[in-house]
Parts: sequence; structure tokens; C-alpha cells
Amino acid sequence: MGRDGVASGPKPRAARRVDAELLAGTTAHYDDPAYYTKTYRRRLDDVRYYVDLAESRGGPVLELGCGNGRIAVPLARGGVEVAGVDLSAPMLADLRARLAAEEPEVRARVTLRRGDMRAVRLGRRFPLVFCPFNAFLHLYERRDVERFLATVRAHLAPRGELVFDVSIPEPTELARKPERAYSAPSFVYPGADGGPGERVRYTERFDYDKLRQVLFVAMEFIPESGAEAWMTPLAHRQFHPAELEALLHYNGFEVTRRAGDFDGSAPTNESASLIVHARARKSPRGR
Ligand SMILES: C[S@@+](CC[C@H](N)C(=O)[O-])C[C@H]1O[C@@H](n2cnc3c(N)ncnc32)[C@H](O)[C@@H]1O
Repeated sequence: MGRDGVASGPKPRAARRVDAELLAGTTAHYDDPAYYTKTYRRRLDDVRYYVDLAESRGGPVLELGCGNGRIAVPLARGGVEVAGVDLSAPMLADLRARLAAEEPEVRARVTLRRGDMRAVRLGRRFPLVFCPFNAFLHLYERRDVERFLATVRAHLAPRGELVFDVSIPEPTELARKPERAYSAPSFVYPGADGGPGERVRYTERFDYDKLRQVLFVAMEFIPESGAEAWMTPLAHRQFHPAELEALLHYNGFEVTRRAGDFDGSAPTNESASLIVHARARKSPRGR
């Protein structure tokens, strides 16, 4: 027994398994950039929002969680210099390949670093720091958010702005039973190296851990050919809007603007996402 009557010694197996689950939920969805690109190819409103913002303010932009450049490439095409940071080697490799096909001046505007947005230090400051499309939801614990915001603070120029967007937790969706599989229409899963791909049936299961506020999604792909099915996990922390504001506040940031849509409209009860603009306060501890 330890000091407080708590058993000491190695961590229980369950705790280690949980960490592995979070790690898999942070990485697996990004292991296949071709699938990521195909899945989100119609998601364009957020790209326009971030590009318009950067073009109106001027760069350079630091994008934390830049992935395979869904936003970074259009930014660079629009004349904005971008420094991109991401944890995923496959996503960064795909982005490098995409940049190789761009005009030299576009390619020259993008610098990339494989790193953790909770710890990376580039030694330079930016008027804009972006963290688009739920990358923030991979910050599972308070300490992760604190470290992320310290990274942002270390890279923001005076009066610079952090801009990110997250899904708003939807109580009815969080209440879904983990045993139930939700089917979507079949589709052609892209083949490796641009190959023909194969038609798969697709289902999702949702398992919400309400203590940790983490939504675990299991995406199952079942080839119609009868080949072996596979499952990709994804773990998203659920930040309720007032909790998000409090985290920003107590880490020395003030929210300067919130939108509920990429048309810039104010958030409502119907909004699926929250777009947050925030600035570092001069005195981080000030109220
Ligand atoms: C949904 S994708 C968004 C990618 C890109 N911003 C976009 O809009 O398409 C989330 C990205 O965050 C990255 N990511 C997750 N946790 C990270 C961390 N701690 N540090 C850096 N990148 C991280 C993932 O590898 C993934 O590429």
C-alpha cells in the first residue's frame, strides 16, 4: 500500500490500455492520407474561411495540426507563407508530395516540422496561429490544453490571433449506444499509391466516456469482395463551449470572436461547430 492507503507499484493494466486507446485515436485516422483527402474533399467552407482571414490580415501563418495540407496548400497558393506542424508522418509525407507538384513559389512558402503541438517551439512569432478542423479535440486532458496554449503563446506576435474550430458536443449523439452500428452508403476506398481501390461497406460505432469527455469512434470498413474487414479508431475530446472559454481564460487568453458557421454567423443552438478567435492577454493571470 502507498501513503494514502492506495496500492502502489505498476499502473493497473486498464490505465495503460486506455492510454493506448487515446494514442490510436490520435493517429490511426491519419495513417491513410488518400482516404482522408477523399473523405473531406467536399469540406471547402472552412478552407475559404481560413484563406480569406489570412489574406486579409497577411501572413505568415502557423498551422498546428496541418495534416496533409488541406488548408496549408490553398493558403500558400493565395500567397500566404505557412509554417505547418503535425504529429503524423504519413500526413506530412503526403503534404510534401503534394507540394512537389505545386509551382516553385507556392512550395517555397511552406515549411514543415514533424512535431507535437503541445511542445513544439519554432523560435519565431506569427500574427496568426491556426488549428483547424478538430485538431484541438486531440487534446484530451487539461494538461494537454495547457501545453498547447503555451505553444500558441510562444508563437503569437503581439496582438496576434489564435483561430481554431471544433465540433460542439451534441447530447443526442453522445447518447448513442456503443453496440449499435450506424451504416453509411458503400463507397470506393482509395487504393494504395493511387491504385484502383475497392468498394467497401462502412459503419460507425460511438462510445462516449462521459467522465473523460472523450468520444471514441470505431469506423469499420468491410470490403464487398469478402476480403478481411478493418477498423480505424478515432478519439475526440468533447469541449462544451463554456468549458472552452474557461480553459482559454484561465490560460491567459481572451475570446475576441466566436462564430457558429464558416459564413461568420454567430453561434446558435443549431450550430454544429464553434469557430473561436482568441488573443493572449497581456497579463496571463489577470481577470
Ligand atoms: C482532422 S486533422 C486536421 C488537418 C488539417 N488541419 C485539415 O484541416 O485538414 C487533425 C490533425 O491534427 C494532427 N494532430 C493530432 N494531435 C496532434 C499533436 N499533438 N500535435 C500535432 N499534430 C497533431 C493529426 O495528425 C492530424 O493531421
